[in-house]
Order: sequence, then C-alpha cells, then structure tokens
Amino acid sequence: MIILKSPEEIKRMSRACVIVAEALRALEGIVKPGISTKEIERFVEKMVLDRGAVPAFKGYRNYPASVCTSVNDQVVHGIPSSVALNEGDIVSIDLGVYLDGFYGDAAVTLPVGKVNPPAEKLIRVTKEALALGIERARPGNRVSDISHAIQRHVEANGFSVVRSFVGHGIGRSLHEEPQVPNFGEPGHGPRLREGMTLAIEPMVNAGSYEVSVLDDGWTAVTVDGSLSAHYEHTVAIMGNGPRILTKME
Ligand code: MF3
Ligand code: CO
Repeated sequence: MIILKSPEEIKRMSRACVIVAEALRALEGIVKPGISTKEIERFVEKMVLDRGAVPAFKGYRNYPASVCTSVNDQVVHGIPSSVALNEGDIVSIDLGVYLDGFYGDAAVTLPVGKVNPPAEKLIRVTKEALALGIERARPGNRVSDISHAIQRHVEANGFSVVRSFVGHGIGRSLHEEPQVPNFGEPGHGPRLREGMTLAIEPMVNAGSYEVSVLDDGWTAVTVDGSLSAHYEHTVAIMGNGPRILTKME
C-alpha cells in the first residue's frame, strides 16, 4: 500500500530532510585526502544529534553505523572505517535521519581532492540522472517513467545502472512502497499521485551493472572493479510537480 502524506505531514517530514541536506552539504568542505570514513561518520552523527534528530541507519537490520560510506568500486552500504581516503578517490555518503515521526534520506558522491576526468564524469552523470528522474515525479506519470529517465541518461553516457538495489517510498518508515527501480520501460508501475513521498536513488557503475556483497554482509561492490557513484533525494509529489525535500541550498 502506498501511503499518501498530507501537506502538514510533508512539512514535518521536510524538517528531517533539511537536516540530511545540511549534513551532506557540510561534508563538501570536510572530505579531503587523509580523512577517514569513520571521521566522516563522527562529523555527520554530531550534526544530526545536535539538531535533535536521530541517525536512521544505525541498527536498521543490524547495520552497524550512522552513515554509509562507499569508496571507489563500493556501490552502496559501505561501512565507515579508520582507513584514510586518498587523493583521487570518490566516496558516496548516504544519510538517513529520523525526526518527529518521519524519515529523510539522501546521498551524494564526493571527489577526494582532484579526481580524474572519467571519475568526474561518472559523478556528474549520476547527479544529472537523478535530476532527470525527479523531473518525471509528477501526478499522472507512473513510477517507471522515473526509472526510464534515469536509465536513458546513464546509458547514453556509456555507464550502467545497478539493478539489485532500488529507490523506495519513505515517510513514517524508512522504506515504504513503492519500489523505485532505476531502469525499465516507461509507462509501468503505480500511478504517481499528489502526496506520495519517494527516495529516488540511482546507483551508477562505470562498467557492468553487476554487484556483489562482501563478507561483512553489507558492502556492495562492482563485480568488475569499476567505479560506482550514488545520488539520492527525498522528493514529495505536489500538485504542480516534484518538491525536493533534501535540497542542498
Ligand atoms: N539509502 C539506503 C536505503 O534507503 C540506505 C539504507 S542503509 C541501511 O536503502 F543501513 F540502513 F540499510
Ligand atoms: Co534510500
């Protein structure tokens, strides 16, 4: 069942989302060669707690940390560690926050210092694909119109979209219906309506879309070792189109 939210509920949800956006935004000034993903976690966790909110991922299905930090060929769900990031790495940071009954969820991929042009392009195309998907999140469209817009842009640029993880409805639970795949033909899946709230999250690999999960039970990596990027926003479908609740400006 897809749970529609009232304007009042969307307003409450946006308070959780603003905290996610602020924390991810602040990381742009923090992520540099030498920092560890554990330090990134501590920074983000403090920002969230200082704002009276709770990091949503810690303990979710026994996930052991407050954020996911996925480096280079890690796709999603990387666990923060004390290993320092190097110049030229890319790191995807995924943060979920719980406040006043509602969840917010977003992710960015940041360059560590100066990265090479293919890595820069992967990050740019993933961010653009998310924007194009969000643009399709309006009443009357269907879920796979979002999926298709994402896949089209990614593949037109020579990259591939991950199949085995998808976006999701979000609200009083971190994961609600519907699932929002990042691939597919347009015109399928549930009809989009005013009041739906979705976490749209393309995961894009430079090489093949195949992923596997490491022995830690969480970290998803590309099978071919290619780089991977991840962007995510929590979006509310309003009468006049999408409203990005985790907007970072
Ligand atoms: N953004 C991801 C999702 O919504 C992050 C979940 S990580 C977990 O699925 F640790 F909480 F599982
Ligand atoms: Co999500």
